[in-house]
Amino acid sequence: MRSVIEARGLTKRFSGLTAVSDVSLSCEHGVIHAVIGPNGAGKSTLMNLLSGDLKPTSGNILIDGIDVTGSGSSQMSLLGVGRSYQRTNIYPSLTVVENCNLAVQSRSKFSMRFLSDVGSHPEVEVDTKNVLERVRLESVAQKRVSELSHGEQRQVEIALALAIKPKVLLLDEPLAGMGAEESLSIVALLQSIRSEFAVILVEHDMDAVFALADTLTVMLNGGVIESGLPQDIRSSDRVQAAYLGEDFSD
Ligand SMILES: Nc1ncnc2c1ncn2[C@@H]1O[C@H](COP(=O)(O)OP(=O)(O)O)[C@@H](O)[C@H]1O
Ligand SMILES: [Mg+2]
Repeated sequence: MRSVIEARGLTKRFSGLTAVSDVSLSCEHGVIHAVIGPNGAGKSTLMNLLSGDLKPTSGNILIDGIDVTGSGSSQMSLLGVGRSYQRTNIYPSLTVVENCNLAVQSRSKFSMRFLSDVGSHPEVEVDTKNVLERVRLESVAQKRVSELSHGEQRQVEIALALAIKPKVLLLDEPLAGMGAEESLSIVALLQSIRSEFAVILVEHDMDAVFALADTLTVMLNGGVIESGLPQDIRSSDRVQAAYLGEDFSD
């Protein structure tokens, strides 16, 4: 099957430091490709390259086989790359519905609308309703985001990524700061929507990673040290060594 998103030899240098070094990976429709590695491995920088928030020093990004290297984040969004930002594009004083309407409107044909128009377009309202149903946020739809629990706010981030009707979903640590119960509910949510996207998932919670991932890439010091099927990653000596002390093998 053809890749929806592909990175070829992506490298990002920040004055002297190579944060991402010659990373290649791809993801097909319906697949969850997890990227793991210790802190500082370069995972978030890789996600920022894939979302267009950062431009690579070298290497290429392809969407549906077409080279889109150098596109900025709005362009990547229009090309179907949705990402969950950690709160940065959420307006805490607006309600869940209003936030979601804004994200829906950020798609091309509504992009020139202003805040005062939020919710005044039936098409937007229908899309928002669908998204909130899928992420199970209907019951808090009229609440301000600032009033929600941490877990619910993370669900809003996923909702905003879905609102642009993406082909690719980039999730950078969607379970960060969550309790066990909240984590399980987000894992269940991701299971329920996974067939509709190519998902690239950065996550530290290894139970979640191994529950969700079809394929894994392991990063260390900017580079890829291993990639493959979950069972191969679990038994890899190199991966074990990179995660000194953490046992994947059970
Ligand atoms: N904007 C930046 N400027 C300079 N260095 C950065 C920047 N962003 C990340 N880095 C560095 O790049 C390396 C990889 O960081 P990051 O991608 O955040 O890793 P991870 O998400 O795997 O923890 C780290 O050493 C980090 O300090
Ligand atoms: Mg990170």
